[in-house]
Amino acid sequence: EKDIESKLPLRGKKILVTAGPTYEAIDPVRFIGNHSTGKMGFDIAKAAASKGAQVILVTGPTYLQLDHHLIQVIRVTSAEEMYKACHQYFDTVDVAVAAAAVADYKPKNVALQKIKKTEDTFTIELEKNKDILLSLGQIKKQQFLIGFALETENEIENAKAKIVKKNLDLIVLNSLNDKGAGFGKPTNKVTFIDKDFTIFENELKSKELVSEDIVNLIVNKYEV
Ligand code: CTP
Ligand code: CA
Repeated sequence: EKDIESKLPLRGKKILVTAGPTYEAIDPVRFIGNHSTGKMGFDIAKAAASKGAQVILVTGPTYLQLDHHLIQVIRVTSAEEMYKACHQYFDTVDVAVAAAAVADYKPKNVALQKIKKTEDTFTIELEKNKDILLSLGQIKKQQFLIGFALETENEIENAKAKIVKKNLDLIVLNSLNDKGAGFGKPTNKVTFIDKDFTIFENELKSKELVSEDIVNLIVNKYEV
């Protein structure tokens, strides 16, 4: 087994992958979250490990399990915890892929006790979470940085703006317009855009195949 691994194209490379949703606490029993299942990030981690990479998978809450000797799974709950875990490892990696659906906002104050339903209308004040990918782009050195973009309008323009703003090398644009694509679905319609704004269109395909495409782009980068 070790012999085969030594010939794999990502052997010796270290990759950080974020996956899943984040949960932002409202009180001890409630949170703000989203429908991300973590599948995209887990599939990327598996595809990278199958090519010999050592993977650090930082994931928000998900029922998905992974048992692979090249993959270290770090489970977190909130965006703040994901931020800390990513910054703990970013220095040591060659590539980072941000596939997590990080909550953009969190409750400004977390109630210490379960909130009682006394009021007829109820408002929760939210404040922005740290942008994990943006912060990694600001400190990156040699790391190849890949982000995702979920857009419903002006998709290409918005994705290009995210490449620039977050100092990315590549962005994976997710189209929700397509039926069969996105949260809880086994398939994704994605477009790759690199930092020179070269666009690669893809067909609707399984998340497994999309993650293989992403990992092949990483392999190609190191094969030059
Ligand atoms: N991301 C992150 N930390 C955040 C928000 C987003 O690391 N707090 C990452 C996501 O993992 C993804 C990329 O940033 O790789 C883009 O996420 P997206 O939600 O499409 O864009 P935002 O920058 O959050 O902007 P908006 O939601 O307003 O379009
Ligand atoms: Ca967002």
